[in-house]
Amino acid sequence: MKKPCLLFLLLAIAGGLAAQRPVSLTIRDTSGPVISRNIYGHFSEDLGRCIYDGFWTGDHIRMDVVAALKKIKVPVLRWPGGCYADQYHWRDAIGPRKDRKRTVNTSWGMVSEDNSFGTHEFLELCGLLGCQPYIAGNVGTGTPEEMENWLEYLNFNGKSTLADLRRQNGHEQPWNVSFWGVGNESWGCGGSMTPEYYSNEYNRYSEFCKSYPGAPLKLIASGPNSDDYNWTDVLMQHIDLGRTWGLSMHYYTIAGDWDHKGSATQFDEDRYFKAMAACLKMEEIVGKHSAIMDKYDPRKRIGLVVDEWGIWTDPEPGSHPGFLYQQNSLRDALIAGTTLNIFNNHADRVKMAALAQTVNVLQALVLTDKDKMLLTPTYYIFDMYKVHQDAKSLVIQLASPDYEYAGRRIPAVNASASRDSSGVVHISLVNLDPSKAITIRAGLPGITYTNVGGQILTSGRFNDVNTFDQPDKVKPAVFSRARKDGDELVVELPAESVVVLELK
Ligand code: AHR
Repeated sequence: MKKPCLLFLLLAIAGGLAAQRPVSLTIRDTSGPVISRNIYGHFSEDLGRCIYDGFWTGDHIRMDVVAALKKIKVPVLRWPGGCYADQYHWRDAIGPRKDRKRTVNTSWGMVSEDNSFGTHEFLELCGLLGCQPYIAGNVGTGTPEEMENWLEYLNFNGKSTLADLRRQNGHEQPWNVSFWGVGNESWGCGGSMTPEYYSNEYNRYSEFCKSYPGAPLKLIASGPNSDDYNWTDVLMQHIDLGRTWGLSMHYYTIAGDWDHKGSATQFDEDRYFKAMAACLKMEEIVGKHSAIMDKYDPRKRIGLVVDEWGIWTDPEPGSHPGFLYQQNSLRDALIAGTTLNIFNNHADRVKMAALAQTVNVLQALVLTDKDKMLLTPTYYIFDMYKVHQDAKSLVIQLASPDYEYAGRRIPAVNASASRDSSGVVHISLVNLDPSKAITIRAGLPGITYTNVGGQILTSGRFNDVNTFDQPDKVKPAVFSRARKDGDELVVELPAESVVVLELK
């Protein structure tokens, strides 16, 4: 009897000590690739209340929403879809608003569309935000001619009927739109094509997408659905890579199955764990698509453009099911922090990304209710992480402990780091474990600093949200549990938290 008890005791002590052993992190002063600011991009589809009620109300752009988004330095905004891009005809939404065509949004909710928000309004919005527009052209129900004409309307500075029409509609100068998607999800809502068929379509459409003087086009092909590696392989073999800037990829975090995604607010640890495991799959997916692209593009000229990502839950009870309106919790902020760390660490290939979607749809940054507006936990992650935009990534090595739930394990901690143009180093750390604080001891060979500052986003429970009654429940605070200890940086990372440190 005695022996097993002693053994058990020793094992328990060893286990306890192991759990307390600080996690080792090494960040070297070896610059990796620049983290493109465009990784911090956003997606605004004409879907539900993203455009109407979100960005646009009555006959004007909402300046409260613009002010909030300017603060986080939105670099690029994608529009008009999504699935909607492949049913969108740009001519329906130009000219005097009262004369615009009334159409039906058959992609989202079968609702009437008055087209009061069109090309001019979108580009005015991008101007107000100070961001680059990224327009997805229509391959599904469009023609090469329609796409060619839209580009002429947007980007030609000389005399032509279409450039004159733009002037007549109030915009003298061309907009010089550069980022251009050739269709969206052409494997699904964009036309249910095979990769071979789409490759031909891409080559045909892109032949007529011309770069006007001052507006070099950056063409983005409709890439794979999450882990469809065959799609990437076929496209990389058959599309004209010479005229391609990027390949899009879409991956959503789903904490259930497609028909039962689970509530955005009422979830237990089982769903929480599933969401985190699904979110971490982005690492594998990005890595495998990158490896395929490396075969055909070893110099990494073509970007992987993750232009739809984020958590997708069941819509809020009582909302229109086709409008994809969901609340946003601390869990979603942890997903955003983790995903952005993955993108930062793959900055050699991931050149652009767009969270789906900016306002009132899916993993939104901003929710609105008539003239009220609130910032979600996810918004604050983009605010904290904006320091990585255009900074040089630093090489990190992290041996994370596991977060274990019901016999399943995932890495508890993830991280990324960068050095900005003024030499300041930023480290972003995420602890996914909802009940264990984790101490990290980081070696930073070659990095000199005297001050450590930081911000933290956390809350009492992983399903805490900001509401119109309590808009500040989840928001960042000053973080003071990081200190220099000899050559090491010691960080006490609370459970379920995101921390961004500044070393100078
Ligand atoms: O973001 C919502 C939808 O998800 C987009 O319209 C589509 O591209 C994707 O399937």
